Amino acid sequence: MKRNAKMETIRIEDVKNYVGKEVRIGAWLRNKRGSGKLQFLQLRDGTAFMQAVVVKEDVGEEIFAKAKELKQETSMYLIGTIKEDARSDFGYEMDVKDLVVVGESEGYPITPKEHGTDFLMDHRHLYLRHIQPFAVLRIRNTIIAATYEFFNKEGFIKIDAPILTGSAPEGTTELFSTDYFDTKAYMSQTGQLYAEAGAMAFGKVFTFGPTFRAEKSKTRRHLTEFWMIEPEMAWMDQAASLEIQERYIAYLIQAVLDRNGYELDLLGRDKDLLASYTKLPYPRISYDDAIKLLQENDFDVEWGVDFGSPEETFLAEHFASPVFITNFPKAIKAFYMKRHPTRDDIVISADLLAPEGYGEIIGGSERDTDYDYLKARVEAEGLDMDEYAWYLDLRKYGSVPHSGFGLGLERAVTWITGEEHIREAIPFPRTMTRLRP
Ligand code: 4AD
Repeated sequence: MKRNAKMETIRIEDVKNYVGKEVRIGAWLRNKRGSGKLQFLQLRDGTAFMQAVVVKEDVGEEIFAKAKELKQETSMYLIGTIKEDARSDFGYEMDVKDLVVVGESEGYPITPKEHGTDFLMDHRHLYLRHIQPFAVLRIRNTIIAATYEFFNKEGFIKIDAPILTGSAPEGTTELFSTDYFDTKAYMSQTGQLYAEAGAMAFGKVFTFGPTFRAEKSKTRRHLTEFWMIEPEMAWMDQAASLEIQERYIAYLIQAVLDRNGYELDLLGRDKDLLASYTKLPYPRISYDDAIKLLQENDFDVEWGVDFGSPEETFLAEHFASPVFITNFPKAIKAFYMKRHPTRDDIVISADLLAPEGYGEIIGGSERDTDYDYLKARVEAEGLDMDEYAWYLDLRKYGSVPHSGFGLGLERAVTWITGEEHIREAIPFPRTMTRLRP
């Protein structure tokens, strides 16, 4: 191919700026159809999907024969003119003038027919190229970018928590461990304890990193490796923390609506419904009242139980909005949560439930500030005091009121994209039964 000095290599997402112009695109072939005179090439380049048309009369025998031979996932450069095309979903097409194959592809396994979930997950390294992962993971990227924007604007700084730890703050039954020289290390369940140290040093911080839970639950909401965003704020009580949480969620949704209209359309996600979730404040209901509401609606639940998926779905549907459930029983929550001022059986905590059956996306609380109380709690939970001495130090040297929360990134992505299963919300999911690819 002769290099034309004036011709630009462009990305498909930018073709709208090149109508009537001759350009070059590097793309992969998704599919093709056509006849002896005409070939329609379905292309993708990682930024969008578009059709290119090869007309035998225009390109001549040789190029047309090349186009006809193209196999799924062959990579190539295409040169041609961009034109508007109201009939295609994308709105633009390329009239091809020349094409050069870069990488051949033979026997690509994910054919345009239907495939089962296991097959697609076994081929996840290739399936990433297809429409659904493309759209979901680009939205995930927006959510990550918007997270940094939001917290930076609010005066937070990001601190990085370690992944190899000695502690198990969210319970000792869901731990992955590994040999660590002559001792054992655990894969972090949460960055929170480190975020608390950070909040005492920097005021407002957030961690964002992978977290690990050896959960033996095969549900559509659980991964064994997931990414968590954990803000922690010194001098802030739980009421102020809930306000940050709801503004953060509304910011994420607005960012996706503003930047990912194309992806939401590819997924068929209802944008008006999503936009309704930017309306603040979100309702708050106490755990006590939630139990009553559930009982009135024929749920077989007693005070003291943790909610399962049906209860969470009912509560969020009841409010048709994300909803905070506040002040859970102490017995079912983590050791560090702040005691209620007048009741010994509940803690100052809240979970944010997403609507449409997506369940808990945020867990958080105000943290207890008292050294003796927390020491007793660590002992009562049977945790190794040696591992928590540094954490208790935070209560010895200028302890202040502070609150924080954790958003499960993949839970948020699953909800915002409207996916059925959390495995779609991460490039390479890890579950009880999946460690590859
Ligand atoms: O409620 P969790 O366990 O809270 C914490 O870990 C606290 N240390 C957070 C904090 O206050 N800094 O988990 C927080 C969130 C859940 O709401 C959920 O979104 C997500 O993490 N999560 C999971 N996501 C995917 N797979 C799993 N197995 C998850 N477990 C929790």
